Amino acid sequence: PKPSEITPAVRMKSYACQRRTPLKHHNSFLTDALEILAQNAEFSENEGRSVAFRRSASVLKALPHVVRSMDNLKDLPCLGEHSLRVIKALTNVFGVGVRTADRWFREGLRSPLDLIPTGQKLNHAQQAVEYYNDLNTPVTKKEAMVISDIVDKAVKAVLPGAIITLSGGFRRGKEVGHDVDFLITHPEEGAEERLMPKIVNWLDDQGLLLYQKTTRNSYLESKDGPARPASNMDRFERCFSIFKLEQLDSDIHAKASSYNSGKTAGMEERHTGSIWRAVRVDLVVSPYSQFAFATLGWTGSKLFERELRRWAGQEKGMSLSSHALYDSKQQRYLRANSEEEIFAHLGLEYIPPSERNA
Ligand code: CTP
Ligand code: MN
Ligand code: MN
Ligand code: MN
Repeated sequence: PKPSEITPAVRMKSYACQRRTPLKHHNSFLTDALEILAQNAEFSENEGRSVAFRRSASVLKALPHVVRSMDNLKDLPCLGEHSLRVIKALTNVFGVGVRTADRWFREGLRSPLDLIPTGQKLNHAQQAVEYYNDLNTPVTKKEAMVISDIVDKAVKAVLPGAIITLSGGFRRGKEVGHDVDFLITHPEEGAEERLMPKIVNWLDDQGLLLYQKTTRNSYLESKDGPARPASNMDRFERCFSIFKLEQLDSDIHAKASSYNSGKTAGMEERHTGSIWRAVRVDLVVSPYSQFAFATLGWTGSKLFERELRRWAGQEKGMSLSSHALYDSKQQRYLRANSEEEIFAHLGLEYIPPSERNA
């Protein structure tokens, strides 16, 4: 080939938390497929394979150019045999590969029941199934802002002085999301205890909730010990909820087909002309002393979080969670008041939220 056709080899660090991963990158057609396969593996409970697919997708997201041939992949980390085979198939017969992947996705890799926390009453589950279509309609940034205002009002009504942060994908600059995530704290340590039921009651009184499941904080009771948490799940007081979001006129005309009207949804009687849609919202309450860790842990992406923990453990002998950072060598917790301080403790260059889309 002519020199101009040769893509220079890219030196890539092997941990996603050492790399910059933008939201918009050059290889979506490959990473979408790899992530569908990752999700498929997850549904088959093959976690190892799922993570392997996610890691290779993440490497391609950090590449500064489109992958045009297998040669472009020489010396890149985390590309296993399965992923390479998929990439090869897709780069060769691109059309077929993506259509097939797309069909797997539509044919049941996502089930409405995945939205339901285990152990729920059936009528709750059935209700959530009704919202399935809404919940599969991406949440826009504009809708996230409306929800932000509502959450802000609710939290400040029940605990003045509380701090509310938008976390998750919208904090990373995503234009759409599958839900809206919020982290809540109060500068006075302890003022945040048992806050969630108050927030939930306020929202429910206003008729803003279709569904909620609150889980109590179990951090203090946990016997995990600092260095080895029993699971990656955090133990904050949290609420898995579905908001009933009134629609703006302009949005209704733009996307009429994806919304419920009062009559068709079969819910309780509503004011005439009231049109709403269901939106998934995650609320998390953190004590102030853990807020920096909670913010880092709830900003994502999920792979970025996983890689941070792997970096901490394997390269630094530390244990990172959404609650704390423990240094095994010094046998003590390292405090932090900001995400910047946590990156510094970990010996990593600070990566801003917009570049954590690994
Ligand atoms: N998270 C968590 N514990 C959970 C669920 C989520 O710590 N039980 C964290 C994830 O690790 C992630 C963040 O919360 O860092 C947001 O998760 P999620 O809402 O699932 O994903 P987003 O990145 O926000 O993307 P999406 O737009 O699909 O919501
Ligand atoms: Mn989210
Ligand atoms: Mn998600
Ligand atoms: Mn979420």
